[in-house]
Amino acid sequence: MSATEILSITSLHKHYGNSPQPALENVSLSIKAGEIFALLGPNGAGKTTLINIVTGIVTPTSGSIAVGGFDSVRDFRKTRQMIGLVPQELLVEAFETVWDTVRFSRRLFGKAPQDTYLEQILHDLSLWDKRHQPIRYLSGGMKRRLLIAKALAHEPRVLFLDEPSAGVDVELRRSMWDLVKRLRGEGVTIILTTHYLEEAEEMADRIGIINHGKLVMVEDKDSLMQRLGKKQVIFTLSSPLSVLPPALRDFTVELNSQGRQLIFSSDPSSTTKGISRFLQTLQAAQINFDDFESKNSSLEEIFIQLLRSS
Ligand SMILES: Nc1ncnc2c1ncn2[C@@H]1O[C@H](COP(=O)(O)OP(=O)(O)OP(=O)(O)O)[C@@H](O)[C@H]1O
Ligand SMILES: [Mg+2]
Repeated sequence: MSATEILSITSLHKHYGNSPQPALENVSLSIKAGEIFALLGPNGAGKTTLINIVTGIVTPTSGSIAVGGFDSVRDFRKTRQMIGLVPQELLVEAFETVWDTVRFSRRLFGKAPQDTYLEQILHDLSLWDKRHQPIRYLSGGMKRRLLIAKALAHEPRVLFLDEPSAGVDVELRRSMWDLVKRLRGEGVTIILTTHYLEEAEEMADRIGIINHGKLVMVEDKDSLMQRLGKKQVIFTLSSPLSVLPPALRDFTVELNSQGRQLIFSSDPSSTTKGISRFLQTLQAAQINFDDFESKNSSLEEIFIQLLRSS
């Protein structure tokens, strides 16, 4: 274990008995203490399976996991105590109140009561006003936030969030992101899955992409966005073109919107040169434009590209 590694996953395989395909195939991953790691992938890719194995809910077919240097099978109680899980599935209807639920969760892990800490969590998740309500009276988004409070109740060092913002409204999603970032500031390591790519873009330090049970890519978010992020400049033409003029065929360019737009693409390393030569070529060919806008590709576009090629 390196000094900064908190979680080590080695050669994990999972084959559910009733399924022809493995849900996970040879997944190895090292998570650094204090990072936010976003696990992305389409429905059925294996994200929840991976999280459920690490959190002890699902048994792997083979492979091993260490949390803080302890083996997750031999030292199950120790490793489980270091972990908090916000599961993808919502709680079943329950009669307990919000307050009793979080207090019980903390006790379950053998931690001494710490009501001021729990109170702070409920405030952070805008649930304090609901503390005396039975869980079954909460809305879907409130239940999701209660799951987060429950997962944090025993002060875990590693927090797994399996689609934390599914069904949470935009404003509360923001405050949840703030909470997650603050937790990281306090040294908590966070592994989240999400289908909202802007969430990963906003929060993650590193991104892993999983497809058909295989971890197809792990990379720093910033370098991923830089490496794959293409810049596009969209020109709105003064008069539409019926075909792409031959002079423009050396560039990565498309004609769109019934010939009214030219979409020029380039990768970041060659942006300035490419676009200036393109502008000169437009001028020489007497192709005039009324307007232009430029944009960088988002993580979403990068993600779709990667899945196509994996
Ligand atoms: N209990 C189970 N029994 C059999 N197959 C399962 C079980 N749980 C998951 N699977 C299968 O394992 C594969 C991975 O499922 P998993 O739930 O890990 O995907 P996911 O990436 O979390 O998807 P989603 O984005 O929809 O949550 C899927 O093919 C799924 O059908
Ligand atoms: Mg899932």
